[in-house]
Amino acid sequence: MTIDRRAFLKQTAAAFAAAPFLTVGATAADGFRELTARKAKIKLADPDGPTSDLWGYDGTVPGPIIRAKRGETLRIRFRNALDEPTSVHWHGIRIDNAMDGVSGLTQDAVEPGESFDYVFTVPDAGTYWYHAHNKSWNEVARGLYGLLVVDEDEPLFAPEADISFVLDDWLLDDSGRFDVASLGNMMDWSHGGRTGNRLTVNGVTRPDVAVETGRWYRVRLLNACNSRILYFDPNRVGGKVIAYDGQPVGEARKLDYSPHLIGPAQRVDLVLTFDRPGSVPISLETEDKEKPYPFATFRVANGSAAAPALPAIPGTDLPVPDLSAAKHFKLLMEGGAMGRIGHLTYEGKPITRQVMMESRRMWGFNGITNFPDEPFFSVKRGETVVIDTVNQTAFPHAMHTHGHHFQVIDRSGSEVAETPWRDTFLIGPEQTTRIAFVADNPGKWLYHCHMLEHAAAGMTTWFEVT
Ligand code: C2O
Ligand code: CU
Repeated sequence: MTIDRRAFLKQTAAAFAAAPFLTVGATAADGFRELTARKAKIKLADPDGPTSDLWGYDGTVPGPIIRAKRGETLRIRFRNALDEPTSVHWHGIRIDNAMDGVSGLTQDAVEPGESFDYVFTVPDAGTYWYHAHNKSWNEVARGLYGLLVVDEDEPLFAPEADISFVLDDWLLDDSGRFDVASLGNMMDWSHGGRTGNRLTVNGVTRPDVAVETGRWYRVRLLNACNSRILYFDPNRVGGKVIAYDGQPVGEARKLDYSPHLIGPAQRVDLVLTFDRPGSVPISLETEDKEKPYPFATFRVANGSAAAPALPAIPGTDLPVPDLSAAKHFKLLMEGGAMGRIGHLTYEGKPITRQVMMESRRMWGFNGITNFPDEPFFSVKRGETVVIDTVNQTAFPHAMHTHGHHFQVIDRSGSEVAETPWRDTFLIGPEQTTRIAFVADNPGKWLYHCHMLEHAAAGMTTWFEVT
């Protein structure tokens, strides 16, 4: 018995109604596709529950999935229909610097009622995302993000076998609405950032996904939380990892450790098959190993008996760092609750309690809590950069490089066995992490913690490639 094709597609469409596809290419006469940030009334917790006041791209949360082919040039006319300035960052894309979307560094924020044309080429196939990059702690928390999927030259999986799960944790108040009043809470800023009490997947709770036996599925996971680290064990669903942060790892691999940590902004791509019909939950790990938290359910129908061979996943073509000729830099992370704050400065002034309350800065990079006028470092195009990031805080962080992917080559003195390419890495308290990359993309690029409250409270710096 094979499942009725139309019913299958309808079911899939229903599960993903919250994330419609934006077909880039079917556009206005001048070739631009519009994308609008606007206010949206959305029922977050359950379809019969109260509505939350959110902000969404095209009024949906997550925003539409933007889909392109590797090497394609995207033309997106972004309109700001909000009451406050914003800009759009294309996270993980090795992009032309002028299109990186960082308010205050690569462009001015787009004022309410104004628009900005983003025109850029996507050089790498994989799972990327886009999100607001002006007061991100506020704008991303309210829903301004979406997936950006770049397809391989030859699509590896049919559209219905290409599944994405955008995970976000929302802080709901007692009435079940998005808690606006607690945005900017200093306790969150000085500790682990804002974390929520409700998990959504593609904007809904625990969606069902229709699949069938005997074929391969690609599953793209994105952690869109402001600050929460997700614990995930792909082995529970028999998943093999094929990519991190958009970049393929080579051969699909089964992880031999658990749990796997997915930090804010990180992506993991898996491949999966199902060998018998039924219901298969896909879960996050909890403190209790026996009680994983299912965030979606695969409804497996009878298809073919055995899956064909897994399609070969093309590798990356990122430039390999030349460690023998590298420029070395060191970033010291300090501050936060239970951390050293006393000698940090904000615009030249020592961080006293009063300066901290007024500036809302309590984390520092190399002693400085304000966004620095001078770059952390400046290198010539093509040079290999090695950064030692030293976490002397009591919290983990998720460090993100704009415009470049890197390899983690050393963690607190022990060489790292696997060195996949990433654009965001997790670093634990008292840990030192060494990353390396070829700085081949000219411009001004951020290096910041992707726990968005930390980024706003001092954990943001930048480097320059000339
Ligand atoms: Cu996801 Cu500064 O970015
Ligand atoms: Cu952080």
